[in-house]
Amino acid sequence: MTGTPEPTDRPLLRVRDLTVSFTTANGPTEVVRKLDFDLPRGGAVGIVGESGSGKSMTSLAIMGLLPKGGRATGSIVFDGTELATLRENELRRIRGDRIAMIFQDPLSSLNPYYTVGTQIAEAYRSHRAGVSRKAARRVAIEAMERVHIRDAARRVDHYPHQFSGGMRQRIMIAMALSMEPELIIADEPTTALDVTVQAQILDLLAEIRRDTGAGLILITHDLAVVSEVAEHIVVMRGGDLVEQGTAEQIFTDPQAEYTRRLLDAVPRIDDEIGSLRTTDMPVVPAERDAS
Ligand SMILES: Nc1ncnc2c1ncn2[C@@H]1O[C@H](COP(=O)(O)OP(=O)(O)O)[C@@H](O)[C@H]1O
Ligand SMILES: [Mg+2]
Repeated sequence: MTGTPEPTDRPLLRVRDLTVSFTTANGPTEVVRKLDFDLPRGGAVGIVGESGSGKSMTSLAIMGLLPKGGRATGSIVFDGTELATLRENELRRIRGDRIAMIFQDPLSSLNPYYTVGTQIAEAYRSHRAGVSRKAARRVAIEAMERVHIRDAARRVDHYPHQFSGGMRQRIMIAMALSMEPELIIADEPTTALDVTVQAQILDLLAEIRRDTGAGLILITHDLAVVSEVAEHIVVMRGGDLVEQGTAEQIFTDPQAEYTRRLLDAVPRIDDEIGSLRTTDMPVVPAERDAS
């Protein structure tokens, strides 16, 4: 195949001219318009914007999981394969296996009637033909250990309600990790969690990236969240691409007024500590429920 670039310089994911539209009672409506971005191999891209800006529809379009009535046009090339024109059965082989997704609400993604171990193991088996239950259970325990769930060999037999919100999100991450995905799409993975637990989950995602070399798309409405993990940031608003750049560019030299407003909403810990010092008050960390 002449003209095919070397695997090393081709991005893991290349999104071009992605438009997502829905047919509604009032006619067609576009919820994502002409979105372009690249995710380099092993890189992390943050997609940021307020609620309704089209972030989730972007990730669902990449996964080929748009809700009924939704239609994507443009190009989504994953590791050299155009996903936009793949048949459903071919896409299914990539989804969940090479591309894994982590959602905001781990409770609604877990079935309350099965142990977490069974759910991780069965998800794994559904992508790995011929793997025994016993082997899949070992995979589940290992995956739980990798997301730092203590006593995983015992906890594997517990039900979702026996875990805190943060631990349930770790279980969803374990489920994704068990597939050894090349790309992880995390859609608001910390939004439902307490602030201290949020930080722990972000640390975990950063660690997984480092250790596995998987690419990461981190979707959030909170610029502070992406700044921890992603080196490239895409800002969206109302379905449009507002701007994109390195995290440093976006933080130090935002081009759009909208980005500046998002930045103004980010609390700056050094400012807070600075102002406390000037009033000569002791710096006492706020107490929070670390569920
Ligand atoms: N099934 C649907 N039909 C029509 N419009 C939808 C549907 N689902 C979502 N939308 C619209 O798409 C827009 C983008 O939604 P979404 O990607 O979920 O935003 P975000 O994740 O950034 O909060 C919203 O305005 C939403 O109302
Ligand atoms: Mg969303």
